[in-house]
Amino acid sequence: MNPTDRLDRYTAALRFAERQVARLIEKHPDFFPIYTVQGRWHHAGQLWTDWTGGFLAGMMWQFHRRTGDACWRERAEHYSRLLEHRQHDRNVHDLGFIFLNTYRPWYQLTGDPRLHAVLIQAGRTLAMRFQERGQYLCSFIGPESLFIDIMMNVPLILYAANETGDEELRRVAVAHCRTTRERIVRPDGSTAHEGIFDTGTGEFLRESTHQGLSAHSAWARGLAWSLYGYSQVYELSGLEEFREVAERNAGYWLSHLPEDGVPYWDFDADLTQPPPYGAQKESSAGAIAASGLLHLAQQTPSPEQAEVYRGAALRTLDALVSPDYLADSTPDWEGILKHGVYHTEKQLGVDESVMWGEFFLVEALTRAVTLPGGMR
Ligand code: GLY
Repeated sequence: MNPTDRLDRYTAALRFAERQVARLIEKHPDFFPIYTVQGRWHHAGQLWTDWTGGFLAGMMWQFHRRTGDACWRERAEHYSRLLEHRQHDRNVHDLGFIFLNTYRPWYQLTGDPRLHAVLIQAGRTLAMRFQERGQYLCSFIGPESLFIDIMMNVPLILYAANETGDEELRRVAVAHCRTTRERIVRPDGSTAHEGIFDTGTGEFLRESTHQGLSAHSAWARGLAWSLYGYSQVYELSGLEEFREVAERNAGYWLSHLPEDGVPYWDFDADLTQPPPYGAQKESSAGAIAASGLLHLAQQTPSPEQAEVYRGAALRTLDALVSPDYLADSTPDWEGILKHGVYHTEKQLGVDESVMWGEFFLVEALTRAVTLPGGMR
């Protein structure tokens, strides 16, 4: 795609995203959906875990930042406020997803100390998940479980550490990132979804999964969480060792992608088999990785590597804004991005729109249209 067409197409996709979010909140006020069923946000399907509120509100902040539209700011503040009580939520490991995409942009805009206090409290609450034996933040499953997804949430603890100078918060965050790297990031750059530990001794027992194909497979979204998570952790900690992990993840990612740059749900899926366990695309992983690669492109010391990351991110985004994935030409589809997957084994949100896919598509497109030097 030439740069002018790309800019037009990405901008049109962002406008479509605004329309879909406006439509959702008008139809279902104060409702935080997780995934669609046959393209509809409101249904009786279970949540599994309640972790995605920050993505809906976060898109509103993205829209406001890009357009300056006061109406989006008003909506963003309202929906962020609805999440404020989650700063004390000890039942999930997802407080980074919830607060970094809402209270952080709100605080950056206003400098209001009350908003700052919410962010710091959320970081402290998340840090309470730390298991001294084993040196990791445990997942919502229980004290024995470490998820790769937590790499996207641990930046909230580092943020709180940087803002307060609290060395204990930094210790916990850095230890978690090192344990994750040692235990569930593999030498080839792929990742396991979960690590299981002996809670009595802290000993690492085995790889495991909930949402991937198998314990030892490479679940696409988990790898995208790792790539983007380590890139953010590098930014917030200044520790090169974490950029190196993100680059290792990126190496696996780039060498295993199909032609259109949008992964199948698990890199070990048998593509000769039909969905959902076989050839099922996972657009949300593509959107997360595209945003993460654009971030990593600004961090890698190699200009050639930066070009590779940028080019790969744009290739994926080119596909995601095509009618194959973007719902703009699918009548009555309420989401923005089709062909996401939430939980294959539980049959939740398979081949549907998922709220984090929406958010990371918006974030990546917003990043792409404001790239320094434009989109080559
Ligand atoms: N539970 C986080 C995810 O589905 O990626």
